Amino acid sequence: MKKELEQIRMSVEAALKDAEKIETLENIRIKYMGKKGELTAVLKGMGKLPAEERPQIGAFANEIRKRLETEIEERKAAIAAAIEEKRLEAETIDVTMPGKRNHEGKLHPLTQVMNELKEIFMGMGFSVADGPEVEYDYYNFEALNIPKNHPARDTQDTFYIADNIVLRTQTSGMQVRVMEKTKPPIRVIAPGKVYRSDTQDATHSPVFHQIEGLVVDKNITMADLKGTLEMFVKKLYGEKTRVRFRPHHFPFTEPSAEMDYSCFNCGGKGCSVCKGEGWIEILGCGMVHPKVLANCGIDPEEYTGFAFGIGLERIAMGKYSINDLRLFFENDMRFLEQF
Ligand code: DAH
Repeated sequence: MKKELEQIRMSVEAALKDAEKIETLENIRIKYMGKKGELTAVLKGMGKLPAEERPQIGAFANEIRKRLETEIEERKAAIAAAIEEKRLEAETIDVTMPGKRNHEGKLHPLTQVMNELKEIFMGMGFSVADGPEVEYDYYNFEALNIPKNHPARDTQDTFYIADNIVLRTQTSGMQVRVMEKTKPPIRVIAPGKVYRSDTQDATHSPVFHQIEGLVVDKNITMADLKGTLEMFVKKLYGEKTRVRFRPHHFPFTEPSAEMDYSCFNCGGKGCSVCKGEGWIEILGCGMVHPKVLANCGIDPEEYTGFAFGIGLERIAMGKYSINDLRLFFENDMRFLEQF
């Protein structure tokens, strides 16, 4: 019987060596030590042994059972460890591999400049108004003192949607929309897209952006206009920046002017950025025409105001030294990624 036990032990140990799966181990355990297992059968047969042999064989059989149980457990642990190791190996990160580059989302350069300008005006107490890009002729022209056949219409090649509806050629119509709804004091900017039927080239695009400004109250004078716009430019280009006003004509302002600022690049000496001028034009402005105030139901005897219109693209081109306007609208990632 002792021999038989030894035999079982050896078969179990051999089987354990070959086992590579946890399930196999369980099968081995059942085969030898389960209820109907070989070792169990031997133990059951102990009763037939002579009484004096029983304790010795019994002890031996128990020892073998314990030993096999331990061996199965050990093998189980070894297999589990091997599986774990394989898993870790498969998951190993090769830190020397080149990384995947994530494209970082960014604001379009025009949006960035637009936000900067809005920020400056909001800091000066302006609120922001929004209005339609598909606009009535009335707001875009008529109420702004630009009647049909007025020569100013020729300078703004207009996309007509219908007889009396256009794609707005300027944000100035927002002056009228704001004044119709709001009683003075008014201090508002209206940024947005405008459209003109221009052939595109380095300095023209059928769509571009403006920021309209409007201030209306009692006793607003040209001095308020100058002070406000000078402060705006200093905030945008730095304290040392100077401004100058040149007389101009716009139908909806009287008097009207264009404002230049001393070149941000050369400080006014003259360079390639300002084409040797020392000055760069930045906006049109003027005192709101009394007729426009009256058109909006505001008494020009009681109130005065000033208005201005800034072209966004030109500012962005100067700021980033961009010499072709079309780059803003082509959405080439190589261009956009630089901002
Ligand atoms: N709307 C004008 C344009 O597109 C710009 C402008 C000039 C706006 C004078 C104004 C202003 O508000 O007062 O050329």
